[in-house]
Amino acid sequence: MQTITGKQVLVLGANSDVAKEAIKLYVAQGHQVVAASRSTNELNRFVATQIPVPAQVEVRYFDATDFDTHQAFYDNLPAKPQIVLYAAGFQVTNDEALVSWPGTFQMMKVHYGGAVSILNIIAMDASNQKLERIIGLSSLSGVRGRKSNFVYGSTKAAFTTYLAGLRQYLSTRKITVNAIVAGYIRSKMTAHLDLPESLLLEPSYIANAIVHAPKRFTIVPGFKWKIIYNILQLLPESLVAKLP
Ligand SMILES: NC(=O)c1ccc[n+]([C@@H]2O[C@H](COP(=O)([O-])OP(=O)(O)OC[C@H]3O[C@@H](n4cnc5c(N)ncnc54)[C@H](OP(=O)(O)O)[C@@H]3O)[C@@H](O)[C@H]2O)c1
Repeated sequence: MQTITGKQVLVLGANSDVAKEAIKLYVAQGHQVVAASRSTNELNRFVATQIPVPAQVEVRYFDATDFDTHQAFYDNLPAKPQIVLYAAGFQVTNDEALVSWPGTFQMMKVHYGGAVSILNIIAMDASNQKLERIIGLSSLSGVRGRKSNFVYGSTKAAFTTYLAGLRQYLSTRKITVNAIVAGYIRSKMTAHLDLPESLLLEPSYIANAIVHAPKRFTIVPGFKWKIIYNILQLLPESLVAKLP
């Protein structure tokens, strides 16, 4: 039987297809993972069927939008984390978001409010001297406001900006903060969308970028998406306005 000697990893929004692939990699590295999400039945099934040593993963209930529960959630963790991954995500189309507040507000709560709430609690626990890294799963949609996706995109932009400031704030404690700025991923979030096959990345590919994240802040997985990211950053607003 494998001896568990690794780090404590906390995965928030652990039922994400990307997060599950990251959990598999963290476990393979010998780490102990708390997989926290709303769908605990699904997570328990995942652990039982896909984790070779199920004792390496503990499933906990976590709702990113239930802000009042976050402090107790953190206080009751089996161990304080060394690595934290925030992967919770939710998306409605821009057309729907523009006319229906609940979906819009849910995106704000899942990508921004919930992230800030729980990550502030984690970051401000100075007694956790083992905390070494916080990784947020953000999106290229947050790089520039585009007419087809600016409601979702703006929640991701807010998240990325929060992570950037958090990185500066935590640097004196030698804690690394990364933003994974991902393009299209083949996951249940995009399953109903007609996206260009040549640009779709697999959850396992994104997970690999997460688990092997270097020190730098922005990580854009995939060569094509790196190019798109660089172009997007440089384009004048008049040209961004011509994009979908
Ligand atoms: N798919 C893409 O093309 C793409 C591109 C760029 C960035 N991203 C981002 O990558 C992250 C992972 O997404 P994914 O592609 O792996 O999609 P996914 O499989 O749909 O995962 C999203 C997960 O977020 C969790 N979640 C939603 N609301 C939550 C809440 N209130 N509290 C806790 N967890 C919640 C859900 O788990 P429960 O069922 O447990 O609630 C869900 O499994 C998201 O932040 C997404 O925005 C995705």
